[in-house]
Amino acid sequence: MIQRILLGVNGSIAAYKAAQLVRLLTGQGLEVRVLMSRGAQAFVTPLTFQALSGQPVASELLDAGQESAMGHIELARWADLILIAPASANSLARLAVGLADDLLGAVCLASRAPLWLAPAMNSAMWQHPASQANLALLQQRGAHLLEPERGELACGEQGDGRMMEPAQILQRLLAAQPDQSKPDPLRPTPLKGQRALVTAGPTQEPLDPVRYLGNRSSGKMGYALAEALRDAGAEVCLISGPVALPGPAGVERILVEQALQMHRAVLDRVQAGGVDLFIACAAVADYRPVRVATEKIKKGSASLHLELQPNPDILAEVAALPAGLRPFCVGFAAETQDLEQQAEAKRQAKRVDLLAANRVGPGLGFGQEDNQLLLLWADGRLELPLLPKRQLAQRLVEQLVKLSAASCQPPAKNSSWPLKAGS
Ligand code: CTP
Repeated sequence: MIQRILLGVNGSIAAYKAAQLVRLLTGQGLEVRVLMSRGAQAFVTPLTFQALSGQPVASELLDAGQESAMGHIELARWADLILIAPASANSLARLAVGLADDLLGAVCLASRAPLWLAPAMNSAMWQHPASQANLALLQQRGAHLLEPERGELACGEQGDGRMMEPAQILQRLLAAQPDQSKPDPLRPTPLKGQRALVTAGPTQEPLDPVRYLGNRSSGKMGYALAEALRDAGAEVCLISGPVALPGPAGVERILVEQALQMHRAVLDRVQAGGVDLFIACAAVADYRPVRVATEKIKKGSASLHLELQPNPDILAEVAALPAGLRPFCVGFAAETQDLEQQAEAKRQAKRVDLLAANRVGPGLGFGQEDNQLLLLWADGRLELPLLPKRQLAQRLVEQLVKLSAASCQPPAKNSSWPLKAGS
Protein backbone atom coordinates (compact mmCIF):
# COMPACT_ATOMS: atom_id res chain seq x y z
CA MET A 1 0.00 0.00 0.00
CA ILE A 2 1.52 3.30 -1.10
CA GLN A 3 1.52 5.80 1.77
CA ARG A 4 4.72 7.83 1.45
CA ILE A 5 5.53 9.59 -1.78
CA LEU A 6 8.82 11.28 -2.49
CA LEU A 7 8.21 13.92 -5.13
CA GLY A 8 11.26 15.03 -7.11
CA VAL A 9 10.81 18.37 -8.84
CA ASN A 10 13.14 19.38 -11.69
CA GLY A 11 13.76 22.77 -13.26
CA SER A 12 10.93 23.31 -15.73
CA ILE A 13 8.12 25.79 -16.00
CA ALA A 14 5.86 22.81 -15.16
CA ALA A 15 7.32 22.94 -11.62
CA TYR A 16 4.35 25.12 -10.66
CA LYS A 17 2.03 22.18 -11.49
CA ALA A 18 3.93 20.09 -8.95
CA ALA A 19 2.52 22.37 -6.24
CA GLN A 20 -1.02 21.36 -7.22
CA LEU A 21 0.11 17.74 -7.33
CA VAL A 22 1.26 17.95 -3.69
CA ARG A 23 -2.18 19.26 -2.72
CA LEU A 24 -3.93 16.42 -4.52
CA LEU A 25 -1.67 13.76 -3.02
CA THR A 26 -1.91 15.02 0.55
CA GLY A 27 -5.68 15.35 0.04
CA GLN A 28 -5.71 11.55 -0.41
CA GLY A 29 -4.11 11.14 3.02
CA LEU A 30 -0.70 10.40 1.50
CA GLU A 31 2.48 11.65 3.14
CA VAL A 32 4.54 13.67 0.67
CA ARG A 33 8.12 14.87 0.93
CA VAL A 34 9.48 17.08 -1.79
CA LEU A 35 12.97 17.04 -3.14
CA MET A 36 13.91 19.93 -5.46
CA SER A 37 16.75 20.24 -7.92
CA ARG A 38 18.58 23.58 -8.04
CA GLY A 39 16.88 24.30 -11.38
CA ALA A 40 13.46 23.76 -9.83
CA GLN A 41 14.20 26.45 -7.24
CA ALA A 42 14.54 28.99 -10.05
CA PHE A 43 10.82 28.43 -10.81
CA VAL A 44 9.19 27.75 -7.43
CA THR A 45 10.52 28.33 -3.91
CA PRO A 46 11.04 25.48 -1.44
CA LEU A 47 8.74 27.36 0.94
CA THR A 48 5.76 26.71 -1.37
CA PHE A 49 6.31 22.95 -1.17
CA GLN A 50 7.09 23.06 2.52
CA ALA A 51 3.81 24.82 3.23
CA LEU A 52 1.82 22.43 1.02
CA SER A 53 3.42 19.19 2.20
CA GLY A 54 3.88 20.22 5.83
CA GLN A 55 7.40 18.75 5.62
CA PRO A 56 10.84 20.28 5.13
CA VAL A 57 12.02 20.32 1.52
CA ALA A 58 15.36 18.71 0.70
CA SER A 59 17.58 19.88 -2.14
CA GLU A 60 21.29 19.45 -1.29
CA LEU A 61 23.24 16.21 -1.07
CA LEU A 62 26.15 17.47 1.00
CA ASP A 63 24.27 19.77 3.36
CA ALA A 64 24.94 18.69 6.94
CA GLY A 65 21.69 20.24 8.22
CA GLN A 66 19.48 18.48 5.67
CA GLU A 67 21.34 15.19 6.06
CA SER A 68 20.87 15.27 9.84
CA ALA A 69 17.11 15.97 9.43
CA MET A 70 16.57 13.05 7.02
CA GLY A 71 19.61 11.87 5.10
CA HIS A 72 19.51 10.61 1.51
CA ILE A 73 19.57 6.94 2.54
CA GLU A 74 16.78 7.50 5.04
CA LEU A 75 14.75 9.33 2.39
CA ALA A 76 15.35 6.47 -0.02
CA ARG A 77 14.07 3.95 2.55
CA TRP A 78 11.19 6.17 3.67
CA ALA A 79 9.60 6.37 0.22
CA ASP A 80 7.00 3.83 -0.93
CA LEU A 81 7.11 5.47 -4.34
CA ILE A 82 9.32 8.05 -6.04
CA LEU A 83 7.58 10.38 -8.46
CA ILE A 84 9.57 12.86 -10.53
CA ALA A 85 7.23 15.52 -11.85
CA PRO A 86 8.29 17.40 -13.84
CA ALA A 87 11.16 15.20 -15.03
CA SER A 88 13.54 17.18 -17.25
CA ALA A 89 15.57 15.81 -20.18
CA ASN A 90 18.66 16.32 -18.03
CA SER A 91 17.13 14.30 -15.21
CA LEU A 92 16.22 11.39 -17.53
CA ALA A 93 19.82 11.35 -18.79
CA ARG A 94 21.28 11.46 -15.30
CA LEU A 95 18.99 8.70 -14.03
CA ALA A 96 19.73 6.53 -17.04
CA VAL A 97 23.46 6.79 -16.38
CA GLY A 98 22.99 6.37 -12.64
CA LEU A 99 24.70 9.58 -11.52
CA ALA A 100 24.61 10.17 -7.79
CA ASP A 101 26.23 13.59 -7.54
CA ASP A 102 23.01 15.34 -6.59
CA LEU A 103 20.35 14.50 -4.00
CA LEU A 104 17.67 13.19 -6.38
CA GLY A 105 20.16 10.95 -8.24
CA ALA A 106 21.56 9.57 -4.98
CA VAL A 107 18.10 8.88 -3.53
CA CYS A 108 16.90 7.15 -6.71
CA LEU A 109 19.97 4.91 -6.72
CA ALA A 110 19.59 4.06 -3.04
CA SER A 111 15.86 3.34 -3.16
CA ARG A 112 14.00 0.15 -4.03
CA ALA A 113 10.73 2.08 -4.35
CA PRO A 114 9.02 2.13 -7.75
CA LEU A 115 9.98 5.14 -9.89
CA TRP A 116 7.36 7.14 -11.77
CA LEU A 117 8.38 9.78 -14.31
CA ALA A 118 6.27 12.65 -15.63
CA PRO A 119 8.52 14.28 -18.24
CA ALA A 120 8.12 17.91 -19.28
CA MET A 121 10.28 19.53 -21.94
CA ASN A 122 10.37 21.16 -25.34
CA SER A 123 9.07 18.77 -28.01
CA ALA A 124 12.37 18.60 -29.91
CA MET A 125 14.14 17.63 -26.69
CA TRP A 126 11.44 15.04 -25.96
CA GLN A 127 11.68 13.52 -29.42
CA HIS A 128 15.47 13.55 -29.52
CA PRO A 129 16.83 10.00 -29.80
CA ALA A 130 18.98 10.59 -26.72
CA SER A 131 15.94 11.37 -24.53
CA GLN A 132 13.98 8.48 -26.01
CA ALA A 133 16.89 6.06 -25.48
CA ASN A 134 17.32 7.23 -21.88
CA LEU A 135 13.63 6.77 -21.23
CA ALA A 136 13.56 3.32 -22.85
CA LEU A 137 16.45 2.24 -20.64
CA LEU A 138 14.70 3.53 -17.51
CA GLN A 139 11.47 1.76 -18.49
CA GLN A 140 13.40 -1.46 -19.09
CA ARG A 141 14.59 -1.17 -15.48
CA GLY A 142 10.98 -0.85 -14.33
CA ALA A 143 10.33 2.92 -14.31
CA HIS A 144 6.72 3.90 -15.05
CA LEU A 145 6.08 6.61 -17.61
CA LEU A 146 3.39 9.26 -17.22
CA GLU A 147 3.35 10.27 -20.86
CA PRO A 148 3.66 13.96 -21.65
CA GLU A 149 0.75 15.52 -23.49
CA ARG A 150 0.47 17.37 -26.76
CA GLY A 151 -0.37 21.05 -26.68
CA GLU A 152 1.05 24.54 -26.44
CA LEU A 153 4.45 24.48 -24.73
CA ALA A 154 6.01 27.24 -22.63
CA CYS A 155 8.52 27.89 -25.45
CA GLY A 156 5.60 28.89 -27.69
CA GLU A 157 5.72 25.75 -29.88
CA GLN A 158 2.89 23.28 -30.31
CA GLY A 159 3.86 19.65 -29.75
CA ASP A 160 4.56 16.80 -27.33
CA GLY A 161 6.24 17.61 -24.08
CA ARG A 162 3.65 19.15 -21.72
CA MET A 163 3.66 17.48 -18.33
CA MET A 164 0.60 15.31 -17.69
CA GLU A 165 -2.04 17.21 -15.68
CA PRO A 166 -1.76 16.66 -11.89
CA ALA A 167 -5.30 15.25 -11.60
CA GLN A 168 -4.49 12.63 -14.24
CA ILE A 169 -1.18 11.78 -12.54
CA LEU A 170 -3.08 11.20 -9.31
CA GLN A 171 -5.58 8.96 -11.09
CA ARG A 172 -2.79 6.88 -12.64
CA LEU A 173 -1.05 6.45 -9.28
CA LEU A 174 -4.26 5.44 -7.54
CA ALA A 175 -5.16 3.01 -10.31
CA ALA A 176 -1.77 1.33 -9.86
CA GLN A 177 -2.27 0.78 -6.11
CA PRO A 178 -2.21 -2.94 -5.38
CA ASP A 179 -5.53 -4.66 -4.73
CA GLN A 180 -5.72 -4.72 -0.93
CA SER A 181 -7.74 -7.91 -0.84
CA LYS A 182 -4.73 -9.72 -2.36
CA PRO A 183 -1.60 -10.20 -0.27
CA ASP A 184 1.41 -8.16 -1.43
CA PRO A 185 4.44 -10.47 -1.21
CA LEU A 186 6.75 -7.50 -0.53
CA ARG A 187 4.79 -6.10 2.40
CA PRO A 188 6.08 -7.05 5.87
CA THR A 189 3.44 -9.05 7.74
CA PRO A 190 4.42 -9.14 11.40
CA LEU A 191 0.89 -10.19 12.39
CA LYS A 192 0.68 -13.14 10.01
CA GLY A 193 -1.17 -16.01 11.64
CA GLN A 194 -2.79 -13.72 14.25
CA ARG A 195 -6.50 -13.11 14.60
CA ALA A 196 -7.72 -9.63 15.39
CA LEU A 197 -11.10 -8.33 16.43
CA VAL A 198 -11.95 -4.63 16.11
CA THR A 199 -15.05 -2.72 17.22
CA ALA A 200 -15.87 0.48 15.37
CA GLY A 201 -18.48 3.19 14.99
CA PRO A 202 -21.26 4.28 17.30
CA THR A 203 -24.07 2.23 18.80
CA GLN A 204 -27.72 3.23 18.59
CA GLU A 205 -29.93 2.59 21.60
CA PRO A 206 -33.59 2.56 20.59
CA LEU A 207 -36.16 4.72 22.39
CA ASP A 208 -39.12 3.88 20.19
CA PRO A 209 -39.58 2.53 16.64
CA VAL A 210 -38.15 5.73 15.08
CA ARG A 211 -35.74 7.25 17.62
CA TYR A 212 -32.51 6.25 19.26
CA LEU A 213 -29.76 7.56 21.52
CA GLY A 214 -26.52 7.76 19.57
CA ASN A 215 -23.25 9.62 19.20
CA ARG A 216 -21.14 11.30 16.52
CA SER A 217 -18.63 8.48 15.86
CA SER A 218 -18.03 8.04 12.11
CA GLY A 219 -16.19 4.70 12.40
CA LYS A 220 -13.25 6.01 10.34
CA MET A 221 -10.59 5.25 12.95
CA GLY A 222 -11.84 1.72 13.62
CA TYR A 223 -12.08 0.95 9.90
CA ALA A 224 -8.57 2.35 9.35
CA LEU A 225 -7.33 0.09 12.15
CA ALA A 226 -8.98 -2.96 10.62
CA GLU A 227 -7.20 -2.14 7.35
CA ALA A 228 -3.86 -1.55 9.07
CA LEU A 229 -4.13 -4.90 10.90
CA ARG A 230 -5.05 -6.65 7.64
CA ASP A 231 -2.07 -4.99 5.91
CA ALA A 232 0.16 -6.24 8.73
CA GLY A 233 -0.96 -9.79 7.92
CA ALA A 234 -3.67 -10.39 10.54
CA GLU A 235 -6.97 -12.13 9.88
CA VAL A 236 -9.41 -9.40 10.85
CA CYS A 237 -13.03 -9.34 11.97
CA LEU A 238 -14.63 -5.91 12.28
CA ILE A 239 -17.71 -5.54 14.45
CA SER A 240 -19.26 -2.29 13.41
CA GLY A 241 -22.07 -0.06 14.54
CA PRO A 242 -24.09 1.85 11.93
CA VAL A 243 -21.70 3.92 9.76
CA ALA A 244 -21.62 5.19 6.18
CA LEU A 245 -18.43 3.31 5.27
CA PRO A 246 -18.00 0.32 2.96
CA GLY A 247 -16.58 -2.86 4.49
CA PRO A 248 -12.79 -2.97 3.92
CA ALA A 249 -11.65 -5.53 1.35
CA GLY A 250 -10.30 -8.71 2.87
CA VAL A 251 -11.90 -8.03 6.28
CA GLU A 252 -14.90 -9.89 7.67
CA ARG A 253 -17.51 -7.40 8.86
CA ILE A 254 -20.39 -7.99 11.26
CA LEU A 255 -22.90 -5.15 11.43
CA VAL A 256 -24.71 -4.44 14.69
CA GLU A 257 -26.80 -1.55 16.01
CA GLN A 258 -27.04 -1.72 19.77
CA ALA A 259 -24.39 -2.00 22.48
CA LEU A 260 -25.86 -5.33 23.66
CA GLN A 261 -25.55 -6.74 20.13
CA MET A 262 -21.94 -5.54 19.88
CA HIS A 263 -21.24 -7.04 23.31
CA ARG A 264 -22.70 -10.41 22.25
CA ALA A 265 -20.83 -10.47 18.94
CA VAL A 266 -17.49 -9.68 20.60
CA LEU A 267 -17.87 -12.07 23.53
CA ASP A 268 -19.02 -14.93 21.26
CA ARG A 269 -15.86 -14.52 19.23
CA VAL A 270 -13.44 -14.10 22.08
CA GLN A 271 -14.90 -16.86 24.24
CA ALA A 272 -14.71 -19.25 21.30
CA GLY A 273 -10.94 -18.82 21.62
CA GLY A 274 -8.20 -17.96 19.18
CA VAL A 275 -8.49 -14.17 19.20
CA ASP A 276 -4.97 -12.76 19.64
CA LEU A 277 -5.69 -9.03 19.44
CA PHE A 278 -8.70 -6.96 20.43
CA ILE A 279 -9.03 -3.27 19.60
CA ALA A 280 -12.06 -1.57 21.11
CA CYS A 281 -12.48 1.54 19.01
CA ALA A 282 -16.27 1.77 19.03
CA ALA A 283 -17.99 4.62 20.82
CA VAL A 284 -20.31 2.30 22.73
CA ALA A 285 -23.28 3.93 24.46
CA ASP A 286 -22.72 3.67 28.19
CA TYR A 287 -26.49 3.60 28.84
CA ARG A 288 -29.62 2.36 27.12
CA PRO A 289 -33.28 3.18 27.80
CA VAL A 290 -34.88 0.93 30.40
CA ARG A 291 -38.07 0.80 28.34
CA VAL A 292 -38.29 0.87 24.57
CA ALA A 293 -41.72 2.16 23.52
CA THR A 294 -43.45 -0.11 21.04
CA GLU A 295 -45.22 2.87 19.45
CA LYS A 296 -43.77 6.27 18.55
CA ILE A 297 -43.55 8.47 21.65
CA LYS A 298 -45.96 11.38 21.17
CA LYS A 299 -45.25 14.91 22.27
CA GLY A 300 -47.75 16.45 24.67
CA SER A 301 -46.34 16.65 28.15
CA ALA A 302 -44.20 19.65 29.15
CA SER A 303 -41.18 17.44 29.84
CA LEU A 304 -40.11 13.88 29.12
CA HIS A 305 -38.04 11.75 31.48
CA LEU A 306 -36.01 8.88 30.16
CA GLU A 307 -34.83 6.19 32.51
CA LEU A 308 -31.52 4.66 31.44
CA GLN A 309 -29.62 1.58 32.54
CA PRO A 310 -25.92 0.84 32.06
CA ASN A 311 -24.62 -1.21 29.16
CA PRO A 312 -21.90 -3.79 29.74
CA ASP A 313 -18.37 -2.49 29.25
CA ILE A 314 -17.17 -4.69 26.40
CA LEU A 315 -13.50 -3.79 26.66
CA ALA A 316 -13.32 -4.23 30.43
CA GLU A 317 -15.01 -7.64 30.16
CA VAL A 318 -12.64 -8.88 27.46
CA ALA A 319 -9.61 -7.57 29.35
CA ALA A 320 -10.77 -9.42 32.49
CA LEU A 321 -10.95 -12.83 30.76
CA PRO A 322 -8.58 -15.50 32.06
CA ALA A 323 -5.18 -15.98 30.42
CA GLY A 324 -5.55 -18.29 27.47
CA LEU A 325 -8.75 -16.59 26.34
CA ARG A 326 -7.69 -13.01 26.94
CA PRO A 327 -6.35 -11.32 23.80
CA PHE A 328 -3.87 -8.42 23.82
CA CYS A 329 -6.27 -5.54 24.50
CA VAL A 330 -6.19 -2.04 23.03
CA GLY A 331 -8.67 0.58 24.19
CA PHE A 332 -9.47 4.14 23.27
CA ALA A 333 -10.25 7.05 25.51
CA ALA A 334 -12.14 9.96 24.02
CA GLU A 335 -11.87 12.87 26.40
CA THR A 336 -12.82 16.52 26.35
CA GLN A 337 -10.54 17.52 29.25
CA ASP A 338 -7.51 16.35 31.34
CA LEU A 339 -6.60 13.96 28.52
CA GLU A 340 -3.58 12.14 29.94
CA GLN A 341 -4.89 11.89 33.50
CA GLN A 342 -8.31 10.56 32.46
CA ALA A 343 -6.79 8.21 29.91
CA GLU A 344 -4.29 6.78 32.36
CA ALA A 345 -7.09 6.20 34.88
CA LYS A 346 -9.09 4.40 32.16
CA ARG A 347 -6.08 2.28 31.16
CA GLN A 348 -5.62 1.08 34.71
CA ALA A 349 -9.32 0.66 35.50
CA LYS A 350 -9.98 -1.43 32.37
CA ARG A 351 -6.59 -3.19 32.59
CA VAL A 352 -5.83 -2.75 28.90
CA ASP A 353 -2.37 -3.34 27.44
CA LEU A 354 -2.35 -0.23 25.26
CA LEU A 355 -4.59 2.79 25.44
CA ALA A 356 -4.97 5.39 22.70
CA ALA A 357 -6.26 8.69 23.97
CA ASN A 358 -7.63 11.51 21.90
CA ARG A 359 -9.39 14.77 22.45
CA VAL A 360 -12.94 15.06 21.23
CA GLY A 361 -15.13 18.10 20.90
CA PRO A 362 -16.04 20.63 18.21
CA GLY A 363 -13.72 20.07 15.20
CA LEU A 364 -11.77 17.31 16.98
CA GLY A 365 -11.92 13.54 16.80
CA PHE A 366 -15.32 12.25 15.66
CA GLY A 367 -15.98 12.58 11.94
CA GLN A 368 -12.64 14.31 11.21
CA GLU A 369 -10.16 13.03 8.63
CA ASP A 370 -7.14 13.72 10.85
CA ASN A 371 -6.53 13.01 14.49
CA GLN A 372 -3.82 13.08 17.13
CA LEU A 373 -3.25 10.25 19.60
CA LEU A 374 -1.45 9.77 22.86
CA LEU A 375 -0.51 6.12 23.36
CA LEU A 376 -0.12 4.89 26.94
CA TRP A 377 1.04 1.50 28.16
CA ALA A 378 2.35 0.13 31.46
CA ASP A 379 5.84 1.54 31.17
CA GLY A 380 5.75 3.97 28.30
CA ARG A 381 3.99 6.65 26.30
CA LEU A 382 4.16 7.89 22.73
CA GLU A 383 2.61 11.00 21.21
CA LEU A 384 1.50 10.56 17.60
CA PRO A 385 1.20 13.87 15.72
CA LEU A 386 -1.84 15.16 13.82
CA LEU A 387 -2.09 12.71 10.89
CA PRO A 388 -4.73 11.26 8.57
CA LYS A 389 -6.50 8.42 10.40
CA ARG A 390 -5.06 5.81 8.00
CA GLN A 391 -1.53 6.79 8.94
CA LEU A 392 -2.35 7.01 12.63
CA ALA A 393 -3.78 3.52 12.45
CA GLN A 394 -0.57 2.21 10.89
CA ARG A 395 1.53 3.86 13.59
CA LEU A 396 -0.71 2.44 16.31
CA VAL A 397 -0.45 -1.04 14.79
CA GLU A 398 3.36 -0.68 14.66
CA GLN A 399 3.34 0.01 18.41
CA LEU A 400 0.90 -2.82 19.05
CA VAL A 401 3.19 -5.23 17.18
CA LYS A 402 6.13 -4.26 19.41
CA LEU A 403 4.19 -4.46 22.67
CA SER A 404 2.24 -7.63 21.91
CA ALA A 405 5.43 -9.40 20.83
CA ALA A 406 7.10 -8.30 24.06
CA SER A 407 4.17 -9.44 26.20
CA CYS A 408 4.35 -12.87 24.48
CA GLN A 409 0.89 -14.04 25.50
CA PRO A 410 0.54 -17.69 24.57
CA PRO A 411 -1.93 -17.83 21.67
CA ALA A 412 -5.11 -19.71 22.52
CA LYS A 413 -6.18 -21.02 19.17
CA ASN A 414 -8.87 -23.57 18.54
CA SER A 415 -10.78 -24.49 15.46
CA SER A 416 -13.98 -22.54 16.05
CA TRP A 417 -12.86 -19.41 14.14
CA PRO A 418 -14.52 -17.94 12.21
CA LEU A 419 -18.03 -18.16 13.60
CA LYS A 420 -20.60 -17.03 11.07
CA ALA A 421 -22.05 -13.52 11.29
CA GLY A 422 -25.09 -13.43 13.51
CA SER A 423 -24.09 -16.49 15.50
N1 CTP B 1 -15.98 0.70 25.69
C1 CTP B 1 -16.55 -0.55 25.55
N2 CTP B 1 -17.82 -0.77 26.03
C2 CTP B 1 -18.51 0.20 26.61
C3 CTP B 1 -17.93 1.49 26.75
C4 CTP B 1 -16.66 1.71 26.27
O1 CTP B 1 -15.93 -1.46 25.01
N3 CTP B 1 -19.74 -0.04 27.06
C5 CTP B 1 -14.61 0.90 25.23
C6 CTP B 1 -14.47 1.85 24.06
O2 CTP B 1 -14.54 1.16 22.83
C7 CTP B 1 -13.10 2.44 24.32
C8 CTP B 1 -12.99 2.45 25.83
O3 CTP B 1 -13.91 1.49 26.28
O4 CTP B 1 -12.07 1.62 23.84
C9 CTP B 1 -13.26 3.78 26.48
O5 CTP B 1 -14.46 4.32 25.99
P1 CTP B 1 -14.90 5.79 26.44
O6 CTP B 1 -16.27 6.07 25.88
O7 CTP B 1 -13.80 6.76 26.20
O8 CTP B 1 -14.98 5.64 28.00
P2 CTP B 1 -16.02 5.02 28.96
O9 CTP B 1 -15.44 3.76 29.53
O10 CTP B 1 -17.35 4.88 28.31
O11 CTP B 1 -16.03 6.13 30.11
P3 CTP B 1 -16.59 7.65 30.07
O12 CTP B 1 -17.69 7.64 29.03
O13 CTP B 1 -17.07 7.84 31.46
O14 CTP B 1 -15.42 8.50 29.70
